[in-house]
Amino acid sequence: MDVIQTINEVKSLVKKARSDGKTIGFVPTMGALHEGHLSLIRAANEKCDFVVVSIFVNPTQFGPSEDLDKYPRPIEKDIELCEKNNVDLVFNPAVEQMYKQQNLTWVNVEKITECLCGSSRPNHFRGVTTVCAKLFNIVKPDFAFFGQKDAQQAVVIKRMVCDLNMDLEIVVCPIVRAADGLALSSRNAYLTPEQRKDAALLYKSLQNCRQLIEKGEKNSQTITDQIRTTLSESPLIKVEYISIVDFHSLEDIGRVSAGTLIAVAIRIANTRLIDNILVD
Ligand code: PAJ
Repeated sequence: MDVIQTINEVKSLVKKARSDGKTIGFVPTMGALHEGHLSLIRAANEKCDFVVVSIFVNPTQFGPSEDLDKYPRPIEKDIELCEKNNVDLVFNPAVEQMYKQQNLTWVNVEKITECLCGSSRPNHFRGVTTVCAKLFNIVKPDFAFFGQKDAQQAVVIKRMVCDLNMDLEIVVCPIVRAADGLALSSRNAYLTPEQRKDAALLYKSLQNCRQLIEKGEKNSQTITDQIRTTLSESPLIKVEYISIVDFHSLEDIGRVSAGTLIAVAIRIANTRLIDNILVD
């Protein structure tokens, strides 16, 4: 496995793999790898011959009062996990490598970035799409793997690839959860044991909501109210949004049906957690 910091070296190693007839799979990450990331790496290995993982805490997707400085960066452990999971190339650039000068060019997907997480994180998705477009240009993968955990991110990236005619396919993989149902996230490490216990209510609220839908409830307001009631069992939880939207347009819908995305964001102290389910 190669661990590379420069764009030129990545380009030449990927070019070599491609000239050997290999298909290229790409998993972009910000590191602090957990089973969620590893599930994407496994999916990439199943589908592709040569797997590239990027580990880059991208400053342009963090707001001024967000956790850029304290975001975990256990790079040695991450490299070890990549090695164990048959990654061919880890791209771990410095900020100066990715943003050599003041960045004047941004990729901005409109409309679907303004709702859900976009409402409280202005410019977040502009940072995500810009860095992903740059990484796709560097790695030139055939397939890139994203998690359903960040459902809006996956929808936005798919839209960018489609609108800009980028030559790759986006594969979206299922959410990996802890034993109590909490979706794995690098940010779970910020939670105290007491907060971590209450965080499980996030998934519980979505499970209750799935049961309600299975019993025949379709009204978005009734479902939203039930999610809010479950979350109110913890005084530590502040609800940021409960959104019931169409999975592609991310527009609010009044009645759930197949293809409806139910997405929730909460805060526990300063830690922001998100989760979602897709109605099938
Ligand atoms: P990061 O939060 O490190 O996540 C990298 C990828 O792992 C994303 O596609 C995310 O959806 C997926 N992932 C995280 N937790 C998961 C879980 N529990 N189950 C399944 N997949 C999970 O998302 C980013 O980084 C960045 O925004 C990035 C795309 C790398 C751009 O900087």
